[in-house]
Amino acid sequence: MPKRTLLKTGLITLTWIPVLMTVNDKVCYISQIKGSSMRPTLNPSDSSNDWILLWKFRKDAVQRNDVILFKSPMDPKKILCKRVKGVELDKVFTKYPYPKDSVIVPRNHIWVEGDNVTHSIDSNEFGPISKGLIVGSVATIIWPPSRWGTDLKETLGRNNILKKNIDT
Ligand SMILES: *[C@@H]1O[C@H](CO)[C@@H](O)[C@H](O)[C@H]1NC(C)=O
Repeated sequence: MPKRTLLKTGLITLTWIPVLMTVNDKVCYISQIKGSSMRPTLNPSDSSNDWILLWKFRKDAVQRNDVILFKSPMDPKKILCKRVKGVELDKVFTKYPYPKDSVIVPRNHIWVEGDNVTHSIDSNEFGPISKGLIVGSVATIIWPPSRWGTDLKETLGRNNILKKNIDT
């Protein structure tokens, strides 16, 4: 009976939409990257804006070299994209304008920097950030197709800035 099929479809749709929405904001979502602070990893030229797939993950699971999105510690309405360069209890050798030469990243904090070292407002400006500000990690670039397969795990940005903590 068509009427019944319609009802069934309606129910299925109703059951599915919330699931999709949950996946959307609890597990992953798609986001466009703006700006040049993560060059050459993301947005390699002025004419391209990469679209990325963002995974929400347990914030404790964040690792060095993850590319993450997080709320700006200076303006929580702004979402920034940087690479994790240090995790808790790492000693990081900082650069200008950070007021000290080095810093121990406090517990539950991380140190983030842009791959485009000279054009990035990052932890050297605002210090270590709380893991609570993390939105998710960039899993992969989904658009444009010419950017498929880009290795986000490649270690870019400043090198040898770290004395790793005793746990790792
Ligand atoms: C860093 O950003 C600037 C400003 O947008 C850009 O001119 C420069 O090419 C970028 N550097 C790299 C390594 O991509």
